[in-house]
Amino acid sequence: MKIAIVAGSNHKLATSTKLSVYIQKLIALEGHEATLLDLYEAPLPFYSPEGGYEGHEALKAFKQALFHADAIVLATAEYHSSISGVLKNALDHVNKDYFSQKAVLSVSSSGGAIAVSSLTQLQTIVRNLHGINCPEWISIGGDQRKSFQPEANLEEVEAGIDKRIRHVVGSFLSLAKQLSAGK
Ligand SMILES: Cc1cc2nc3c(=O)[nH]c(=O)nc-3n(C[C@H](O)[C@H](O)[C@H](O)COP(=O)(O)O)c2cc1C
Repeated sequence: MKIAIVAGSNHKLATSTKLSVYIQKLIALEGHEATLLDLYEAPLPFYSPEGGYEGHEALKAFKQALFHADAIVLATAEYHSSISGVLKNALDHVNKDYFSQKAVLSVSSSGGAIAVSSLTQLQTIVRNLHGINCPEWISIGGDQRKSFQPEANLEEVEAGIDKRIRHVVGSFLSLAKQLSAGK
């Protein structure tokens, strides 16, 4: 399967982006094609209903990757009990044609213990885009972020959070396979 992973942070050293890289690695190990769309490295223009983005290569690549993906991972930081502005802006550029009947995994990093607010809001947006929310999500909060700090080695992710990530990625891929088979 083709999986698009959107790292929805405007922070070069974001823990949610490093976690996205780790999820990309786990998905690739299962034999799938996992494409990382890093909104810091490839920023998108502010959405306007008036359009005018012709020739914007990053936006074109973003939309093509989502459109051709069999399933999608969306990663965000928890900002003011919501998702990051750059991720919301990116999602405003697309519609149900990019998400319909695709499994979507929501992922968030927060200063507090659990990123419930951003994850709940992200799942609401996914529902609006006609994506199929994975029943489980991944939240790294507080000290759990240590494994994804810039200096951290991804070969040494803390055992508890690693078990959780691998379990959720497995259940996401299982849902994605079922939905892809039904197309
Ligand atoms: C503008 C801003 C708002 C934030 N709001 C919250 C919040 O509402 N709840 C929370 O737990 N952490 C909040 N934080 C902390 C971030 O969620 C935390 O630093 C997170 O790890 C950032 O993710 P990143 O490493 O992927 O950038 C906020 C940080 C910033 C900069």
